[in-house]
Amino acid sequence: MEIAFLTDLHLPLPAGGPAALLRLPWTFGPRAFANKRASGLLSWALRRSRRHRHEVLDAVLADIARDPPDLILVGGDLCNLALPEEFEAARELLERLDGIAPVRLVPGNHDAYVPGALETYGRLWAPWTEGRVVRDDWPWLCDLPQYGVAVIGLSTAVPRPWGDAGGEIGEAQLRRLEEALAAFAGERLRVVLLHHPPHERTSAHKRLADRRALLDLLARRGAELVLCGHLHRLETDGLPGPDGPVPLLQGPSASQLDERRPGGYLRLRLAAAPRRLVVEPRLFRDGALRAEGPFTPGPPAAAAARTAEVAAP
Ligand SMILES: [Fe+2]
Ligand SMILES: [Fe+2]
Repeated sequence: MEIAFLTDLHLPLPAGGPAALLRLPWTFGPRAFANKRASGLLSWALRRSRRHRHEVLDAVLADIARDPPDLILVGGDLCNLALPEEFEAARELLERLDGIAPVRLVPGNHDAYVPGALETYGRLWAPWTEGRVVRDDWPWLCDLPQYGVAVIGLSTAVPRPWGDAGGEIGEAQLRRLEEALAAFAGERLRVVLLHHPPHERTSAHKRLADRRALLDLLARRGAELVLCGHLHRLETDGLPGPDGPVPLLQGPSASQLDERRPGGYLRLRLAAAPRRLVVEPRLFRDGALRAEGPFTPGPPAAAAARTAEVAAP
């Protein structure tokens, strides 16, 4: 089975430079900006508009269309300020992707940037969230017996005060996640998808509040892969699991233009028997999307050894 995983699309806001952007409050009404969106807009105008670019996102979408996967997973942060127009632009993009392969998504903190936005406009994305809108209705479960794979999508998107980009899963979702992991143990390759990485080294203002509870749950029940985004850089690691490390894979931003931390997306190749999981990053470097050497996700030392195996003929 082949999965395309893209995350942190941060769909670029209207072009026209800082002056055009700063007119947005007059376009949408100043009340829409009497909150965290005001600082978010300033940050977009001064900094993020140079980093999140259409040419990167267009290259990712063209690559997925040219080489259709079996499933497309989207890891959240499609929006920047959670404006209704951003949800609509994201819906159009999701429809395009849906014409290529089935799509499932989880939201990110930028999709819940201000209270009520995700609950109101997130309904536009319901075809790709199995109808989930309110956080406690999650997770969704995408069972693919034909591939021996089950994907469980969690929402960590909750509105946070200014300066806080953290997230939270909540007890109801954790309980259902544990049930799903137990039910599919040994039967499927269990892939857990969420926006916020659960590891401890994430800086305090970007952390998942109940990461400890998630880590404890994974240590008890295990999973074959945890997929996340949020930090806009490709990383892999291992989380404690009952039968050895649970591989964690953190995807790059699908729109980021940055030579040090290139944007792009990941192609995941999974096989249930014999069990195999290989990741091929496709990253935007020197003005084009390029396939990079495949690797097996997991803790750095073990991953290096397994990557050598992948590279061997
Ligand atoms: Fe993001
Ligand atoms: Fe995020």
